Amino acid sequence: MSMRVAVCVSGRGSNLEALVQALPPGSAAAVVLVLSNRADAGALEYARSQGIETTVLNNIADPAAWLELLRTRSIDFVVLAGFLKRIPAEVVRAFPERIINIHPALLPRHGGPGMYGLNVHRAVLADGDSESGATVHVVTEDYDEGPILGRARVPVLAGDTAETLALRVLAIEHRLLPAAVRAAAGIGRAVPFTINSESP
Ligand code: GRF
Repeated sequence: MSMRVAVCVSGRGSNLEALVQALPPGSAAAVVLVLSNRADAGALEYARSQGIETTVLNNIADPAAWLELLRTRSIDFVVLAGFLKRIPAEVVRAFPERIINIHPALLPRHGGPGMYGLNVHRAVLADGDSESGATVHVVTEDYDEGPILGRARVPVLAGDTAETLALRVLAIEHRLLPAAVRAAAGIGRAVPFTINSESP
């Protein structure tokens, strides 16, 4: 019985795609539901192309709507992949150690309210950091505050723009997130993990 995963998205869904591609049939986890706060999220189109159920939550702040959906679909684990809204506290409490988020920086640096998308990479460049990367952490009731489970680093290169850095970070995200979900599938809850340079 594989771990049933719901993925929450707001954007194009490249992390969703990387995760789905990393979990072929028979894997210890399967993405069975994709949720968004936006009907026009490109990620929903990708989910539909893979035959994965999609739902647009109109009242994203309503815990009852979340809980009804997650329970009726027997969701075991929730992944936020480019999800730009706060998870209702009741939902976080209903899924202790079972909601993770991927953030495109080396938390605790460059996290918190307003730190999303290119803003993150602009802040890294503005601070003159020599490296950046991605972080997977447990979701708690505050933005980007939960225990860190795994991180992966990329260099900041001379001449980098926010866009070039974003692409380099996104590529490592696409390896980090599947590793996080695979590690959780083995135990049934979020657990610390690492990716080595050899892992696919
Ligand atoms: C990623 O950079 C992720 O770290 C951040 O939002 C972006 C989502 O991109 N939370 P995508 O929609 O998965 O392509």
